Amino acid sequence: MASSEQPRAQWLGRWGFLLAATGSAVGLGNVWKFPYMTGEYGGGAFVLVYLICILAVGVPVMMAEIAFGRRGQGSPVDAFRRMATGSGRSPAWSVLGWMSMLAGFMILSFYVVVAGWSFSYLWKTLSGGLSGGSVDELAAVFEANNANPWNLGFWSTLVTLVTMVIVGKGVQEGIEKSVRWMMPGLVLMLVVLIGFGALSGGFGEAFAFLFSFNTGSLSSAGMLAALGHAFFTLSLAAGAILTYGSYLPKTASIGRTTLGVALADTLVALMAGLAIFPVIFANGMDPAGGPGLIFMSLPVAFQAMPLGSLFGALFFIMLSMAALTSSISMVEATVSWLCDNKGFTRRSAAWSTGIVLWLISTAAMLSFNVGADWTLAGKTFFDWLDYLTSRWLMPLGGLGTIFVAGFLLNKNVMRDELGLGPRFYALWLLMARYVSPLGILVIFADVLGLYSVVFAQHWPYLLGVLLLMILVGERLSPRLRQALAPR
Ligand code: PHE
Repeated sequence: MASSEQPRAQWLGRWGFLLAATGSAVGLGNVWKFPYMTGEYGGGAFVLVYLICILAVGVPVMMAEIAFGRRGQGSPVDAFRRMATGSGRSPAWSVLGWMSMLAGFMILSFYVVVAGWSFSYLWKTLSGGLSGGSVDELAAVFEANNANPWNLGFWSTLVTLVTMVIVGKGVQEGIEKSVRWMMPGLVLMLVVLIGFGALSGGFGEAFAFLFSFNTGSLSSAGMLAALGHAFFTLSLAAGAILTYGSYLPKTASIGRTTLGVALADTLVALMAGLAIFPVIFANGMDPAGGPGLIFMSLPVAFQAMPLGSLFGALFFIMLSMAALTSSISMVEATVSWLCDNKGFTRRSAAWSTGIVLWLISTAAMLSFNVGADWTLAGKTFFDWLDYLTSRWLMPLGGLGTIFVAGFLLNKNVMRDELGLGPRFYALWLLMARYVSPLGILVIFADVLGLYSVVFAQHWPYLLGVLLLMILVGERLSPRLRQALAPR
């Protein structure tokens, strides 16, 4: 048993957690990943499913995670174990904590490569490497930047180093300060880009692409991608939000904080879409251009606007900062676990994690040059890290979390910790027990090809299933508890 005599660190100001959690949530997921996935999966239908997943799955899961962190007072592994054993459940539920630590680590391994792109584009903008090129030439710049492993490796190594230095110093003060000016700055840059798009054409088409929700039916893969992205963009089931929650003062309201983070995160993603797609359409580029999408399209806009290199530099500074406030949150779980359980100091924990991370991220970086052919089932190592975390580890971890929170804990634990009024608590419970799990399960069933068997492709059935689940669940849950109880 770890003894934690020392009181755990807490966020400084009243806004500390809100800022830090927003810093973790808003990142490359919003500005880089959301637009290119929307492009790949055809626009509005993807956006709609994504928004539903944020509200119906993301928000309830985030509330549960923060509550686990604050009540469990530790890294995800310790928090899950304490929560479970505190209600007379098996300590084996800490497996959910292990899964989330693994997910955070795997995500960071490819995240530093993308953050490296952002850093290198900042450098290119400042040194004039992006000026005066045509659309094709700018695409070639992106390819060339990737083709040389020494160049790309330099940038991802730099990101790894900076991340570990910050984490080693202790995150509280640094994050709280930087998010406070970085977040408004990023939003301002997006406003500039949206304004440019609105004036220079392509805006109407972009708007229609993002918000005409009936653009044909979404594929199973697209639904899973939208679900996975809701977890990714809110930093869920990856140890980040839970560990940050463990530094949250008892007095803060979990419900309000969660809504604030989810709202800010969603707004930044939609703004990024509105900033990027006008450029894509006005220049006849392919919306399904893949991971390089923003790096190929935005420089085109910066080139055409007045003071473009200034705005470009500011934009890439903000994006790099946003990436860093996310990347540090991904290792926080591992570092906090090493400190609490293995006697590491913060600094030694950060450096040890950093070395392992550097090895894996270097392998991920090679996926863009010498390792481009090292594929399994058509996916590179980089693709696999992304695919396994977003599509499988995070949704399954979220499902587990919400199952523990909704069914396994003693009756009043979540009610006390969430501190909601009776109506809102009932709403949360309904979401956590039935709506969110049903959403996750339906999407998994669909991907496994079972959806049509189970639901005959008719959405109204789902309502019936939901009602049935509620009936059975509410009648059964005391028995379910007994069946799962330890001897
Ligand atoms: N939410 C971050 C983003 O959108 C990524 C992230 C995932 C951060 C998991 C922490 C944990 O960029």
